[in-house]
Amino acid sequence: MSEFKQTFNSSLGKKLIMALTGLFLCTFLIVHLGGNLLLFCDDNGYSFNMYANFLTHFPPIEVVAYILYLAIIVHALYALILTVNNTKARPVAYVAHNDAPASWSSKNMGLLGSILLLFIVIHMGDFWYKYKFTHTVGYKEYRTNVLTNQTTVSDFTPADPTFEHSSTTEGDTEIIRVKDLHARVANSFSNVWYDLFYVIAMGAVAFHLLHGFQSAFQTLGWRHRKYTPIVKFIGTWFFGVIIPLGFALMPIVYYLKSLGR
Ligand code: HEM
Repeated sequence: MSEFKQTFNSSLGKKLIMALTGLFLCTFLIVHLGGNLLLFCDDNGYSFNMYANFLTHFPPIEVVAYILYLAIIVHALYALILTVNNTKARPVAYVAHNDAPASWSSKNMGLLGSILLLFIVIHMGDFWYKYKFTHTVGYKEYRTNVLTNQTTVSDFTPADPTFEHSSTTEGDTEIIRVKDLHARVANSFSNVWYDLFYVIAMGAVAFHLLHGFQSAFQTLGWRHRKYTPIVKFIGTWFFGVIIPLGFALMPIVYYLKSLGR
């Protein structure tokens, strides 16, 4: 077996892959949260629907998306292999750290990761799968007068069942027809039980990242007297608090909006 293969088949190699895929997934979360913040625009879903349409029709992003799905599978699979190996054989710690007191998060990474995996499967099934592969998501037509910048919105039913999106102009009016993922999200978030599941899952995101982000740096051996406290600060406040809180606000705000309708 080559040295490269040996390294990546070893317990340390698997932890390295988990650290790298984990950090990649952290990057995805930042981008995903940033894009989803468009849900807070008060524009009848225009910005969010345009963003979702761009994501699914821009080939370089589609390639990155497939790398993302692979990273999720590898991260979860290697976590499972390491856990099984660790319980069968010698006790190898999940992360190579000796000095940090074992926090609740670090002891429950498997449980937290399993909740997240379940969340991701349900979440992708409800939004991503329905958006890309079914006809259960409706369409919106946005008509913008380019002189006044005024936009009107209406439902749109395409004659062609394979219709995806279109952008045309009629005189001074720009007409955009896109799938209405915004309505799908709003509809899902009008269910209090569904929202509760999301908020609990965001709690799991918080605790998973509270330990996971800084532990990835330790696994990679990136320890530095000056920079390690910064990594811990980012792991705690940005990934452990701000990111999960930002995501959790979405179902909460949409639920409150649905009460007012
Ligand atoms: C509550 C906040 C969230 C909302 C409103 C939301 C919304 C969406 C929507 C609308 C999609 C389909 C369109 C797209 O790709 O953007 C999607 C895809 C996805 N979401 Fe979320 N999401 C949330 C939180 C999360 C979290 C916390 C994770 C991970 C732990 C996650 C993982 C994913 C993945 C992996 C995809 C597929 C990505 C792709 O193909 O581009 N989402 N999300």
